[in-house]
Amino acid sequence: MLSTIHDVSTQVGQEVTLRGWLHNRRSSGKIHFLIVRDGTGFIQAVMSKAVIGDEAFARAGHLSQETSLSITGTVRADARAKGGYEIDVAGIEVHGEAHDYPITPKEHGVDFLLDRRHLWIRAERQTAILRVRHEVIDAVRDFFNSRGFILCDTPVFTPAACEGTTTLFPVQYFEETTAYLTQSGQLYNEANAMALGKVYCFGPTFRAEKSKTRRHLTEFWMVEPEMAYADLNDVIALAEGLIASVVARVLDRRAAELRLLERDTAKLEAVTTPFPRITYDEAARILREKGQPFEYGTDLGGTDETVLSEHFDRPVCVTHYPGSVKAFYMKPDPEQPDKALCVDVLAPEGYGEIIGGGQRLDDFDLLLQRIREHGLPEEAFQWYLDLRRYGTVPHGGFGMGIERCVAWICKLEHVRETIPYPRMLYRLYP
Ligand code: 4AD
Ligand code: MG
Repeated sequence: MLSTIHDVSTQVGQEVTLRGWLHNRRSSGKIHFLIVRDGTGFIQAVMSKAVIGDEAFARAGHLSQETSLSITGTVRADARAKGGYEIDVAGIEVHGEAHDYPITPKEHGVDFLLDRRHLWIRAERQTAILRVRHEVIDAVRDFFNSRGFILCDTPVFTPAACEGTTTLFPVQYFEETTAYLTQSGQLYNEANAMALGKVYCFGPTFRAEKSKTRRHLTEFWMVEPEMAYADLNDVIALAEGLIASVVARVLDRRAAELRLLERDTAKLEAVTTPFPRITYDEAARILREKGQPFEYGTDLGGTDETVLSEHFDRPVCVTHYPGSVKAFYMKPDPEQPDKALCVDVLAPEGYGEIIGGGQRLDDFDLLLQRIREHGLPEEAFQWYLDLRRYGTVPHGGFGMGIERCVAWICKLEHVRETIPYPRMLYRLYP
């Protein structure tokens, strides 16, 4: 019977065929221990000379790492085995040999591995991370779909900036025009929310950021909900609900992966709502008290975020940044107009910002003024101004970066391992 490593737990005592790749092999005189992987997991297959015969046993002694093969054998429960099961091999068929597979069980440097990312993703740790990524994305979709949000895709080719003109990637768009890869679907999302009420977009976004930090990619995936008739409190409540539900889902369904990654899950279990909320001013005070050099009035830097997020045991919502450090579309707080009705959610354990969002500027005149102040091309924003010309309402939303979220949940050092093919300042291959 054709099976997968994932399914063998229900097939004890039965003969199954698994199709996969040889991950590792140990041999003693009369037994080969073959660690086989098939995409769903890893399992040890025990091949004994007595069962398989001298010739087949000798051939198997030459099998090298990443050879593709099918093994047929009986499933045996074994408490000492890593996944709890082993296969007693009755037959083996080789599909494609692998000579000198470059990623051996010894330690390799990260550049060596990134140059071979198309192979590195076969590693046990990498497949665990990519499964967690899948779970996070699936949980995000379920969260919004079950709350009446409509998925509404936004374009990747855009005519203008959303998050500042310094991080745009230009693309030649036929002879005459320059298009830019989207930095965020937000502006279109706002239009979509005026049509459908509650919407979200979920796609790749691009930032020509020359930052070489453990939090920055030039291409990353962002999920962005947007709600008509919503204020900052609604936005914060939605962000809290999303994070809590994603974390709970990963804890529930990816316990094996978190174990493999040696993740301290108690830290994730603490992630329950409500999250602490502090203003920018309070954040500045905490930073001062902790001796962090911080200039009031500037944006929080990576280290400031790290210090703040180490201060709390769950994600913290930082609101009311100075309007001057935020994007043009932020609504000012009517009670302190120099502050924006915005929120950044900082993940704990030093991970920093995973969500940015807030309430949008819904007043036509002020929005036009901001577009001019930011030196943005007015013509390109006429459609966006239309949303304030025709039935404007309070509205808001946020963006959550999937890679930063996965890096935190898996407790990784760098976001580069959270996406199959990371794109960074000096990395466009493979
Ligand atoms: O804070 P950002 O720039 O906000 C926006 O783009 C808003 N327009 C979203 C909205 O309100 N609809 O980005 C949102 C999130 C960040 O919190 C972070 O998680 C992620 O996107 N992000 C990045 N992730 C990886 N690499 C980068 N260079 C990132 N820049 C932002
Ligand atoms: Mg931000």
